Amino acid sequence: MRWIVVDDYAQLSRAAAQRMLESVREHPRCVLGLPTGRTPLGMYAEVVRECSAGPHCFREAVTFNLDEYVGIPSSHPGSYCSYMSRNFVSHVDLDPRNFHIPDGTAGDGALAAECTKYERLLAAAGGLDLTFLGLGRNGHIGFNEPGAPFTSRTRVILLSESTRKANADDFAGGAVPDRALTMGIGTILESRSIVLLASGGSKREAVARLRSGEVTEEFPASALHGHSEVTILVDRAAASQ
Ligand code: GLP
Repeated sequence: MRWIVVDDYAQLSRAAAQRMLESVREHPRCVLGLPTGRTPLGMYAEVVRECSAGPHCFREAVTFNLDEYVGIPSSHPGSYCSYMSRNFVSHVDLDPRNFHIPDGTAGDGALAAECTKYERLLAAAGGLDLTFLGLGRNGHIGFNEPGAPFTSRTRVILLSESTRKANADDFAGGAVPDRALTMGIGTILESRSIVLLASGGSKREAVARLRSGEVTEEFPASALHGHSEVTILVDRAAASQ
């Protein structure tokens, strides 16, 4: 696990964006695993800025998002589908057919089939080359909450109260969904490389726990200790103890 500590959020965003852009430059057909949340917003903004200057960044790339809420339409402003459209997909030359996100609108009876289909699509694309992750305050990655097995695959999960509270701003006072579809930890660990981003004092405890080296399913991000190509990119505020 390689640790990179940068001064601030702007540097973190630039470093993450550079890593993504290098990867598509070297390997235009690369398969990216993409996160949502507040942390990667700066990375997407940088990537969009760079791509408007030099075209053809994502023309052949394929992307798979980590997760999506269940039970809200994809057009809902709080959905990760609309987040991706707002912040990334509609600004770059990614072929919309190569953009994938689990479909949380599949009815209750069809959610398990949607998860199987997502894994199948990912395998057919050749698996993830490079995956970016955020970090939940309780150590979640994607929406794999504490207790998620390290072997887990894409599935439906119940969101913890703390995660729903942390994400409440995206729902402007309305109800936060209580379920989501997420790539499993096992799915994420199959990515050839992984970059985890954490910024700000609210992530300090989670970052310190990750740094401690303890490996436990009660702290999902600790699964990354078992992967050989992981970079942890944090700013000083998240790294200081
Ligand atoms: C959300 C997402 C995660 C994200 C995390 C941290 O719940 N499902 O993929 O990494 O929370 O979010 P933020 O970057 O807003 O702190």
